Amino acid sequence: MSSTISAQYLLELKDIDLSFGKSQVLKKLSFQVKEGEICALIGPNGAGKSSVINIVNGIYQPQQGQIVFAGKNLKNDVAAQSAHLGIARTFQNLALFKHMTVLDNVLTGRILKSRHSLLGVLLQLPIQQKDADRQRRKVEEILKLLHLEQYRHSVVSSLSYGLQKRVELARALAAEPRLLLLDEPMAGMNQQEKQSIARFIQKVNQRLGISILMIEHDIGVVLQISDHVVVLDYGKKIADGTAQDIQAHPEVLGAYLGEELGSEPVTPQQLSEKEVHI
Ligand SMILES: Nc1ncnc2c1ncn2[C@@H]1O[C@H](COP(=O)(O)OP(=O)(O)OP(=O)(O)O)[C@@H](O)[C@H]1O
Ligand SMILES: [Mg+2]
Repeated sequence: MSSTISAQYLLELKDIDLSFGKSQVLKKLSFQVKEGEICALIGPNGAGKSSVINIVNGIYQPQQGQIVFAGKNLKNDVAAQSAHLGIARTFQNLALFKHMTVLDNVLTGRILKSRHSLLGVLLQLPIQQKDADRQRRKVEEILKLLHLEQYRHSVVSSLSYGLQKRVELARALAAEPRLLLLDEPMAGMNQQEKQSIARFIQKVNQRLGISILMIEHDIGVVLQISDHVVVLDYGKKIADGTAQDIQAHPEVLGAYLGEELGSEPVTPQQLSEKEVHI
């Protein structure tokens, strides 16, 4: 029997249970991401959002359940190979090489695509020149797409926080993923920076056809760019649907977002106008 399952979805989580000691972080969690969509995962602090990315990425091992990516079951040892299967990610807290240039940081994202060692690529040894040129061309394409060309030789630590987050996105793209996992790509940004990164995320999705699973607290931006929204609360899924469905979902509107805004009930209109951090 083949281990390949027909891929109706690009990513499918089925009945995932994840615990750390006695604390159960994800409870029978199931949801799917379709090829080509931007799916947002929202929920309050500690809801389990980053844990979802960590299990898809193979960093955490769920005790129960299945993760199916492009028809392949990722549970257990295969999960660690998610990068080879076409899954790339960014981190909630910046994880760049701060003292290296933008170019070198993005080059590190090419590791899996390079036929040679990272050191060889960085040192540009003659025997590896051809491969290095190929890597460099790809990186330049990505820098252009994300309007980072002018910063290519800047040391990362000299850049604004918003630009550093964009460099992290560039590095993840350098792996040429089929699915991009973004853990709070707009955290700590002002509205203008958020709008800018939101446009880049849409560009990556539309121009490169990369599917995106994104964690984001700013519900305004989520509703603006997502095709699909999954809402988590205490490790449980409480809503799953289009941005429009979610805006009208009674559990999200009343009990959940309503609590954040005070005792007043929240209307979908208010929700899309207000910047609500959950
Ligand atoms: N490696 C770990 N060891 C122990 N507990 C963990 C670990 N990772 C996550 N947790 C716990 O799991 C719960 C969910 O954490 P997670 O980081 O997934 O939440 P989150 O929804 O991403 O929150 P935030 O919005 O604050 O980033 C928290 O209670 C957290 O303390
Ligand atoms: Mg998190």
